[in-house]
Amino acid sequence: MTFRDVPKVELHTHLEGAAPPAFIRQLAQEKNIRLDGIFDESGGYVFENFQQFLDAYDAACEPLKTTEDFYRLTMAVLEETASHGVIYMESFVSPDYCGGGDVVKWRDYVAAMAQAATDGEKAFGITLKGIATCIRHRGPEASKSDSLCAAETAGDFITGFGMAGAEMMHQPSDFAYAFDQAREAGLSLTCHAGEWGGPDRIRETLDVLKVNRLGHGIRAIDDLDLVRRIVEEDIVLEVCPGSNVILKAVDGWDSHPIAKLRDLGVKVTFSTDDPPFFHTTMTAECEGMHRTFGWDKDDFIAMGKTAIDAAYCDADTRSRIRKQLESA
Ligand code: ADE
Ligand code: ZN
Repeated sequence: MTFRDVPKVELHTHLEGAAPPAFIRQLAQEKNIRLDGIFDESGGYVFENFQQFLDAYDAACEPLKTTEDFYRLTMAVLEETASHGVIYMESFVSPDYCGGGDVVKWRDYVAAMAQAATDGEKAFGITLKGIATCIRHRGPEASKSDSLCAAETAGDFITGFGMAGAEMMHQPSDFAYAFDQAREAGLSLTCHAGEWGGPDRIRETLDVLKVNRLGHGIRAIDDLDLVRRIVEEDIVLEVCPGSNVILKAVDGWDSHPIAKLRDLGVKVTFSTDDPPFFHTTMTAECEGMHRTFGWDKDDFIAMGKTAIDAAYCDADTRSRIRKQLESA
């Protein structure tokens, strides 16, 4: 059984984290940059825990320097993602990796990625929107320049603001300024929470950062009052089962809470997070959920509709993608 051709909507990917390892190696070779210790013998990324993953991620970003690199990266990611039936995707892109949080430099990177989104849509039939992102372990000060960058480029391509990185560092309230600044610029807001942190951290994220989607959010299952709140407030979860399994945020597919959350009425969507790091694709995510929960094409289309309804895009894009899902 393959779900490759089922049309899919993916809300939670990291652009650099979706880079095919061969692309990163090629770029490193062109620039004479040595990347030691992040690839195994078969050429895949290697790490043993979340911290090592974050370190490998940073190292893999080393060769990504110029706007042209980000144009090529975006095209490579769009081609690969579209080959798994994804017709709409959102990707986290960080000003930290694109000009170090400098607004003038960031504008050029955004222009390059937006150009690739236009070209990639023509070439591969996939629509891409960017969510500018701060990185929690770089601290609250860096988050302010990141959200200023986001605010200054809010538009057709940059439609959201978010936060990734080491969830247990700092408190959500330390990032309130950044999220307020992005909200005032009209950006939609999401935040990684409940991947590692418990219900209190998720609650504070909702209270203080006022996001309408949560990256992962799976630890909400530990508190049914919180689950009820998430349902009542229409918060959508960007669940990444394969990522959670490989990073050991859950014990395995069998104990992944996505099915329980869905049964409790939570709006769940599914994504790959950083596909080559976690040896996954959107097809493989469908296969994992089919194997574990017996979910099928109709479930994946239904979750795709949930995702496009919660997507950070304009009304025309939403109705065009919805129609594609409805006619599948
Ligand atoms: N950055 C890239 N992937 C991430 C994840 N799963 N959690 C936090 N930060 C990330
Ligand atoms: Zn993520």
